[in-house]
Amino acid sequence: IKERTLVAVKPDGVQRRLIGEIIKRFEQRGFRLVGLKMLQAPEKLLAQHYVSLQKKPFYPSLLHYMTSGPVVAMVWEGHNVVRSSRMLVGDTDPAGAAPGTIRGDLSVHISRNVVHASDSVQGAEKEISLWFQSAELIDWEGCD
Ligand code: CMP
Repeated sequence: IKERTLVAVKPDGVQRRLIGEIIKRFEQRGFRLVGLKMLQAPEKLLAQHYVSLQKKPFYPSLLHYMTSGPVVAMVWEGHNVVRSSRMLVGDTDPAGAAPGTIRGDLSVHISRNVVHASDSVQGAEKEISLWFQSAELIDWEGCD
């Protein structure tokens, strides 16, 4: 099944110069980059993105973290890319993220876990439409 998912390098990932490392892992796996931009995420966008977490005690600090610097938002396309991206990224809590995953290799704390990836096909569709306009997504054929 060809799918698309939203992946974002969070502000700590940008500050730690990990953009290239994260892109490299998705490219090497064989996924296709169809959208890419750097932005200072507006609070309104983050409020929609994290709507299901609004009642959580860590929500204010999550918004503070996500607005502490620019974010690199990407849309990746490929066979089962939603599930595979979650595997590439690793567990939400870096302490439980397997070595070899992005979080398992590059992060320590759940509140600074360097990267986001959509957790379901439905969630991905919603998140992609929040972060990107359709004209910003480029259809291109690879050699797969
Ligand atoms: P992510 O799964 O990308 O999206 C929700 C984010 O909320 C998650 O990454 C963490 O950055 C953050 N988060 C989840 N649980 C906690 C927690 N217990 N404490 C702090 N941040 C959290």
